[in-house]
Amino acid sequence: MDALANRIRESLLALLLEHGDSYVSGEEISQRVNCSRTAIWKHIEELRKEGYQIEARPRSGYRLVYRPDRVAPEEIKPELHTRRFGKEIRYWRQVASTQPLAHEWAREGAAEGSLVITEEQTQGRGRLGRIWHSPPYSGIWMSLVLRPAIPLTQAPQLTLMASVAVTRALRRVTGLDIRIKWPNDLLIDGKKICGILTELRGEQDQVQYVVLGMGINVNVTPDFWPEELKGKGTSLAIAGGRTYRRVELITAILKELEGIYEGFLTHGFEPIRILWEEYAAMLGTTIRAHTPHGEVTGEAIGLDPTGALILRQGDTKIPIFSSDIDV
Ligand code: BTN
Repeated sequence: MDALANRIRESLLALLLEHGDSYVSGEEISQRVNCSRTAIWKHIEELRKEGYQIEARPRSGYRLVYRPDRVAPEEIKPELHTRRFGKEIRYWRQVASTQPLAHEWAREGAAEGSLVITEEQTQGRGRLGRIWHSPPYSGIWMSLVLRPAIPLTQAPQLTLMASVAVTRALRRVTGLDIRIKWPNDLLIDGKKICGILTELRGEQDQVQYVVLGMGINVNVTPDFWPEELKGKGTSLAIAGGRTYRRVELITAILKELEGIYEGFLTHGFEPIRILWEEYAAMLGTTIRAHTPHGEVTGEAIGLDPTGALILRQGDTKIPIFSSDIDV
């Protein structure tokens, strides 16, 4: 859809929503949205194909009866209260993965906070080359472009920052006990509901841009998981016993992320380190970390000032920089 069609659709939906249960006349829509009545009718037809139920009554006009749970910009923008995050959105019904699309956009010059989002991914990417299952209309599959002026060595802190922000937003909206497993998995009762994939491009030791990929199982049902992942993953809906409006979660996440990210750029990593420890899933327990140099077992006691996980083995403290963790 081109930019003009997008704008018309955004204003049309906003107008229908503003009128709630009452009708809004074709004349008023045409004036407020600034296009012909025939064009309005075509847009209404398109919206109906996407699952919106819009009642049309002669002499009264149109009324929105049912709104499907879509994550399109016209659904997100009216509820978004950020300064920059999510102000520019590229949306698709289905893509292979949002990550390469966000990289491409960043290389073209996407502003900080630009967001790529989709209803479904056919080749969702996880960490360490894994597949990320992303079924249609039931999760949040999105990639955010960031342009922090930080050295490459600090980049891992962005993943921890994002884990904290997403945890806080999801906890606030759902009330569920969401915990962080180092470095970037969010869990409920030990099962994964969200994964974060940070990819970046750097030049001369500085970060040029970051693509922060977030995958959240929102309304995914238990039968969805392939056999090998059964028991490892869950969704907010399974844990909460109800479904959630994805747009509410997305806008809450973008707002929280923006605030925490700005705090990070101004005050550094320390406040995030403290929050991260508050939400951590496995502090005080013995864990096994698979590092590039072999396995390390020890008691997880916290993060060091750089964001490395500290494992205690007797009197020795070992910082773990990047690994997979078995709790
Ligand atoms: C993980 O392995 O835990 C990270 C999963 C990240 C998945 C998200 S979904 C949106 C974005 N697009 C992708 O292909 N992957 C990330």
